Amino acid sequence: MSVKQSVLQALEENREICVSGEQLAKKLSVSRSSIWKAIKSLKEEGYDIAATTNKGYRLETGSDVLSFEGMVPWLAPENKNLVIKAYKTIGSTNQVAKKMAMDGESHGTVVIAEEQTQGRGRMGRDFYSPAGSGIYMSLILRPDVYASEAVLVTTAASVGVYRAIKKVTDKDPQIKWVNDIYLEDRKICGILTEAVTNFETGLVECVIIGIGVNFRLPENNFPGELNDVAGSLFREKPDTLTRNRLAAEIINAVLELCNDLGNRDFLKEYKAHSMVLGHEISVCQHNSWLPARAIDISEDGGLIIENEAGQLQTLNSGEISI
Ligand code: BTN
Repeated sequence: MSVKQSVLQALEENREICVSGEQLAKKLSVSRSSIWKAIKSLKEEGYDIAATTNKGYRLETGSDVLSFEGMVPWLAPENKNLVIKAYKTIGSTNQVAKKMAMDGESHGTVVIAEEQTQGRGRMGRDFYSPAGSGIYMSLILRPDVYASEAVLVTTAASVGVYRAIKKVTDKDPQIKWVNDIYLEDRKICGILTEAVTNFETGLVECVIIGIGVNFRLPENNFPGELNDVAGSLFREKPDTLTRNRLAAEIINAVLELCNDLGNRDFLKEYKAHSMVLGHEISVCQHNSWLPARAIDISEDGGLIIENEAGQLQTLNSGEISI
């Protein structure tokens, strides 16, 4: 770990408490000037660090740059050694994570970014990913499932995001099948799951779960039509909750669920917070929208619908609107 990373870790672990430069230098066995250089460089990267004479340095409450060091205090003990690669800007975290997975990167690795310039959504759509207001991250998973069960990973991921939001905020979001998270009828989080399958065995080699959370409203709000449908968890930056904390809680919850996919108890939670079950919906099939009623969720996370003719059908992928 570099001096800069160690200094950042100490500041993140002691948020709002002054850490003395002298003590830091002693602990890391480096000179005071190396500490000063590390602090200067962190400030240049956007960390809001206050310096007080005779007391030392501390991170201001509002300082919230996405980083491994900012997440680690909130990661569950079994996740503290995960590889977490944080970028200021990136094309798409899913794209980078997929390449890393193909190169052999291990289960649980995370790619996270402040901004995406080519954020991807489901059905070939773009995902608006401006700097500073969202959490854009991808997890590499190597679950023991067949391709036909991959939708279950997606279902588990949305329950994971739901649990994390519930744990650290007073909000009660809803899940729109397959895996969108809504708050007050606006989409605040989208999930894009991409699986690489071994055609011979039918087993999934790896799954990339891409999660995009609108944490607070973007500086200039959402552009164009997006403004009618997209929302954010908070209107403004909250006083104490950081994106690092929420990202860490999402990682904890998603990994816990995906490491135990055989246990389908989470489907109860998925159903309980579904915004579609029991509702009249429209289903997109072969490029046309057909009316249906959302009845239930199958054991594999599929949506059971009743079509106009009164027949039951299970959807394992696709698009619905409510
Ligand atoms: C959707 O709502 O259609 C899914 C959106 C998924 C967006 C996330 S942001 C992190 C990851 N990287 C991407 O390019 N997409 C996913």
